[in-house]
Amino acid sequence: MTAILGTVMADAAKHHRTFNTLIRASHTSYIDLETFLPWDIGVDKSKPPKKMDQLWIHGTSYDEQLTPEQRLEVAWLETARDLSMFIHLEHFLPYLYGGYLNQYKDQLDKKIYEYLMLFAREELTHILAFRRFMQLADLPLFAPPTTWSPFTNALTALRPEIGVLSTLIIEWMAELAAMHCTQSSEVDPLTRQLFHAHHNEEIRHITFAKAIGSAFFQNAPAAEAQEVRQFLGTLIKGLLAAFTYNPEISAFTSFEFPVRPDDAAAIDRVRNSEANRQLNETRFRKLFDWCRNYGVM
Ligand SMILES: [Fe+2]
Ligand SMILES: [Fe+2]
Repeated sequence: MTAILGTVMADAAKHHRTFNTLIRASHTSYIDLETFLPWDIGVDKSKPPKKMDQLWIHGTSYDEQLTPEQRLEVAWLETARDLSMFIHLEHFLPYLYGGYLNQYKDQLDKKIYEYLMLFAREELTHILAFRRFMQLADLPLFAPPTTWSPFTNALTALRPEIGVLSTLIIEWMAELAAMHCTQSSEVDPLTRQLFHAHHNEEIRHITFAKAIGSAFFQNAPAAEAQEVRQFLGTLIKGLLAAFTYNPEISAFTSFEFPVRPDDAAAIDRVRNSEANRQLNETRFRKLFDWCRNYGVM
């Protein structure tokens, strides 16, 4: 899977119109840290940061053990986890894409060369935005998953298309989850606007990666495409488990969280609950359809 073809991100030329549109949009509509949110309205933590029927433990017996106040605290911690994972990812992407720019500057399609820089710049701005929001809302930073560092190390050695495809899966899943749970009238307004503004830039990243991914699956040698499908399939399984429940939450709750971090059976029950199965099928449907179309799942 480490083999590099003669061209990098082959067959990009037929997507030039898409890339031009994305580049123009990046130059005309972007997050300005000071003005993109009405920061002075502050965060209202008496309101939920997400729809309460999308708590990780919703629909399980653990949920019934919580008071309404505890449930609200859990919702804010789940949002802290989501923001933390965005920050970890957004630290890595400028490094990954900066590596492609450095290593393949002469082999990269000109439009891709330009867009990778805009992509990286936008992720750095997102880190600043998320960190400012977390400080304002007094939210803790969750640790990256233990698999994160080996995964990112492996990715830097693989051909750029695999990096772009893996990023697509992670960003798309994160965006579908965030938008599905935050864009609702009961949600704290600053939280809702933060995720919406971020999404406006992430749609461009997703559009870019879908073009690269389609070209890859249409052009790659069959054996290599098959290896990449397996690699992405494993990634999706890990992400589904991570999105559905993160045991670190019990380290931050002001009360004893009913799912203990060493209780593997309880964690499994939450991850495989009927509520989570239905939620995943609904919120990730677009991503799953795209993946099924390319034989990834
Ligand atoms: Fe981002
Ligand atoms: Fe992104």
